[in-house]
Amino acid sequence: MKIIVIQGPNLNMLGIREQNVYGSMKLEDIHSQMEAVAKQSKVEIEFFQSNLEGEIVDKIQECIGDATGIIINPAAYSHTSIAIRDAIRAVSLPTIEVHISNIHTREEFRSKSMVAPACSGQISGFGPFGYHLAMLAVIQIMSELKNMQEVQKK
Ligand code: DQA
Repeated sequence: MKIIVIQGPNLNMLGIREQNVYGSMKLEDIHSQMEAVAKQSKVEIEFFQSNLEGEIVDKIQECIGDATGIIINPAAYSHTSIAIRDAIRAVSLPTIEVHISNIHTREEFRSKSMVAPACSGQISGFGPFGYHLAMLAVIQIMSELKNMQEVQKK
């Protein structure tokens, strides 16, 4: 099992940007915690961050044949990107959308995610712990799918 974690624009600025909204943890620290959980769960994990929509679309497409699940925080592109939504639909892998802040309690434009309908679920408002919750969710979905595939083989 392999999870790809995709981080959208400005998330490389975590720890510096709007600490009152996103907290003080840096992206590298979030990723090291996720790496530790992956190790414990014997799951492979890879991290990718980009400020460019097209690069995020390319990375999602590259997940075919490589990853078994995706965790994505599309950041500001969540609210605008049909291209990212289509890419998630195209690869048809279990995908969890994460937001550090609660997008439903902020400016109105943030409460709509274009990407959400293509995802298995959305985690929003739990701070960096949301990535941990997303790992539990994606590992659970991946193992349920694996069990179903084994049953079908018999
Ligand atoms: C965010 C929420 C988005 O609205 C915002 O543009 C981000 C971060 C979050 O993690 O809370 O950059 O995705």
